Amino acid sequence: METRGKDLDKARELLRRGELVAIPTETVYGLAANALDPKAVTRIFKAKNRPSFDPLIVHISGLDRMNELTQNVPDAAYQLAEAFWPGPLTIILPRRKIIPDLVTSGLDTVGIRMPDHPLSLELMRGLDFPLAAPSANPFGYISPTTPIHVEDQLGGKVPYILDGGPCDIGIESTIIGFEEGQIVVYRMGGKSLEEIEQVAGKVQVRDHSSSNPRSPGMLKSHYAPRSPVMLGDMLNEHLPGKDVAILSFRDSFPQMGANRQFVLSETGDLSEAARRLFSGLRQLDSHNPSVILAETVPDYGLGRAINDRLRRAATRPDGQG
Ligand code: TXA
Ligand code: MG
Repeated sequence: METRGKDLDKARELLRRGELVAIPTETVYGLAANALDPKAVTRIFKAKNRPSFDPLIVHISGLDRMNELTQNVPDAAYQLAEAFWPGPLTIILPRRKIIPDLVTSGLDTVGIRMPDHPLSLELMRGLDFPLAAPSANPFGYISPTTPIHVEDQLGGKVPYILDGGPCDIGIESTIIGFEEGQIVVYRMGGKSLEEIEQVAGKVQVRDHSSSNPRSPGMLKSHYAPRSPVMLGDMLNEHLPGKDVAILSFRDSFPQMGANRQFVLSETGDLSEAARRLFSGLRQLDSHNPSVILAETVPDYGLGRAINDRLRRAATRPDGQG
C-alpha cells in the first residue's frame, strides 16, 4: 500500500475515519488528526510518545472557522490573522467547548493557525472538521522538514504521508497569545518579531524558563538531536582531533571532512539558514559525532528563531547544559 503521495481523497478518507495523516506545511510537517475527535487525537499523542500535558495546535483553512472554535477574540488577533494568515503564526485564544480537553491539555485556550501550503489548504477545504497537528517527530526530537524525515521517524505509525515536498520556511510557527490585553510571544518562529511589531506595535517576549513553562514548547531542552550540541565560536573553540561536527552559519572549514560540517547559508541569508537548519542537524547527527559544535547567527529577523532552536538543542534533558 502506498504510504506516501499526493492523494488528497485518500488523506481525507483516513482523517474521516479517525486515522493519522502527516501533512506538509510551510514551517514543518505536522502529524494531523480530526481535532474534534478525542479518539483520533489520542493517536497523535501515542505515535509521538508525547506527554498529554503538551497541548496541540489546531489548523484551519479559513478565518470563519476561527470563530467556531474560539470566543472573545481580541481585535489585535483579527488584525494579525488578516495580515499573516495563511502563514507561520499561531494565535492562542480562549476556546469553545467544541474542542476536546485532550487537544488543549485542559487549558481554556487553544492555539490556532492557518498554514500556508496549497496541498494542506486544499485538503482541509474538503473536510468539515479542523486538524490538530503537532510537528511530526517523536517528542523532543528535531521537527521534520521533508516527507522522508517523517518516514524515517514515524514510518509504520502513520498510515499516510501527504507529500508536499520540502518545507519553505523550515522552522516552526511563531506562537503568540494575550495577557491582560497585551500581546506576548511564547515561541519565536517563522514570523519574525519585527514583522509582528509592524502590525501590532511593541510586544512582550516571554523568557524561556525551565520551571513551570506556560507553553511546554518553551521547555529549554527540546528540538534536540541525539548527539550533544555545544554553542561556540568555531575558530576559538574548534577542538581538532576530537570527533567533532560543525554547524556553521556561512563559513566552511576545509580541514574538516564533508560529513563533519554543514554550512547553513554561504551568502549569510537567514531564510536559507532557517530552511536548512533541521536538515543540517539531522545530517550531522546521523554520523554520531561526539559533539555538534554550532555557531549562532545574527540575532534579528528569522535569526532569533534559529538561535532559539540552537540554544534549546544545546540544553541536555538532564540539565547538564
Ligand atoms: O509550525 C508549527 O507550529 C507546527 C506545524 C505542524 O503547524 N506545529 C508545531 O506544533 O510546532 P508542536 O505541537 O510541535 O508545537 C506547538 C507548541 C507546543 O509546544 C505547545 O505547548 C504550544 O504550541 N501550545 C499549543 N497550544 C497551546 C496553548 N493553548 N497554550 C500554550 N501553548 C500552547
Ligand atoms: Mg514540536
